[in-house]
Amino acid sequence: MRTKINLISTKEMDTILTVTGWIKSVRTSKKFSFLALNDGSCFNSLQIVIDTNMPKYEETISLLSTGASVKITGKIVQSPGKEQSIELMAQDITVIGKCDPETYPLQKKRHSFEFLREIAHLRPRTNTFGAIARVRNALSFATHQFFQEKGFLYIHTPIITAADCEGAGEMFKVTTLDLENPPKTDKNNSEETFNVTDYSKDFFEKPTYLTVSGQLEGEAYACALSNIYTFGPTFRAENSNTSRHLAEFWMIEPEMAFADLNDNMDYAEEYIKYCLKYLLEKCPQDMKFFNRYIKPGLIDKLNNVINSPFERLEYTKAIEILKNSGKKFEYKIKWGSDLQSEHERYLTEEHFKKPVILYNYPKEIKAFYMRQNDDGKTVAAMDVLVEGVGEIIGGSQREERLNVLEEKMDQTRLDKENYWWYLELRKYGSVPHAGFGLGFERLIQFATGMENIRDVIPFPRYPGHCDF
Ligand code: 4AD
Ligand code: MG
Repeated sequence: MRTKINLISTKEMDTILTVTGWIKSVRTSKKFSFLALNDGSCFNSLQIVIDTNMPKYEETISLLSTGASVKITGKIVQSPGKEQSIELMAQDITVIGKCDPETYPLQKKRHSFEFLREIAHLRPRTNTFGAIARVRNALSFATHQFFQEKGFLYIHTPIITAADCEGAGEMFKVTTLDLENPPKTDKNNSEETFNVTDYSKDFFEKPTYLTVSGQLEGEAYACALSNIYTFGPTFRAENSNTSRHLAEFWMIEPEMAFADLNDNMDYAEEYIKYCLKYLLEKCPQDMKFFNRYIKPGLIDKLNNVINSPFERLEYTKAIEILKNSGKKFEYKIKWGSDLQSEHERYLTEEHFKKPVILYNYPKEIKAFYMRQNDDGKTVAAMDVLVEGVGEIIGGSQREERLNVLEEKMDQTRLDKENYWWYLELRKYGSVPHAGFGLGFERLIQFATGMENIRDVIPFPRYPGHCDF
């Protein structure tokens, strides 16, 4: 039986165990050779001690290079070293896969994250990316546990869709048409005839896209099952080459029936805190690593986030604060324009020094489905802003009044026919409801201090890059 390294403790003292993994480093002294063996189950490697008097020592040691995969049986003994309390005294070593040290791209030295992105198939073997993978896993689990404990149902919303949820036109098209030679048809308006692609000949007999959000379908299920959440991949064809944007990212979207904007803010705050707490408890070695090598002070910062209330502030108030800040921003502050990342970061990093929930945004800069406030100017939207990342959550109370929603769709020139089913949710047993979307990779950035979003997802997709 093989034992995973994370399960070995001083309880196993003097027992014979078999472990498997990849060699991180090799060091040889007069009497012994030492391997650091890692199997990904935890941050720490197991120290393997090989007596140089072992039979066939020379033959074996010549194959034991960084990156090689091995199976080792031996006895767990107390370690005289400072770094670890136990080690494994090898009795039998099998090299499963050799690794040529001359050509192996992962050398001992610290590689840049840019370089590691080019070898995304090998980077999970590094300390940083192994830790990221375990943090991703822990935060996924925490997400399900949080919502399941609260009685939310996990709903699988479709990946292929005919509706643009955010109305931003940043969707990837899904088609089986021959792009070299698409079928054409004539389309008339009152003055002209256009020759356009004939989507009635396409697979779904209409234009379809990769979803930017599961929200609209999530609403349908919330309006039957009360509280639901989605957790799936979403796609945006925005040409944003920033450290916070991906073309493919994962989003968690809870949707609550019989809920308003305040309930939404409460859930958002509680969910983020729950995730961070879970992470600090379940991944202490990984978090210690991020705290030491990626972002000094990280753990204290996260504990502060967990232990103090988020600031809640109306958009209008935020504009006043920004105007009075005396700071020179690249983008001008004006009521009615969207906040830029520099503004968001000023509010959360410099002014309040904690997460900020901004709410009641001007209706012009927000999506069509957000509930109109009585002032006629703002909608019941909310964004959660955090240090280092900016917007981590976007959400709102939804417009549940059929006539108000229809009017809004007319104003924003959305084709109501495309959204007929969404409108029916307001026609039959409509309820006040609210929800939000959390960008999973941005949560991981926040939780680990990693600067670039491309380094917190296994195989990042961004403009010009889909290499693996
Ligand atoms: O603010 P957004 O666009 O909101 C929605 O999609 C709503 N339908 C959510 C809802 O109410 N159910 O996106 C939500 C979050 C953002 O706050 C951000 O964290 C993340 O998704 N996000 C991205 N993350 C990585 N790369 C991108 N290109 C992202 N765009 C949005
Ligand atoms: Mg947003």
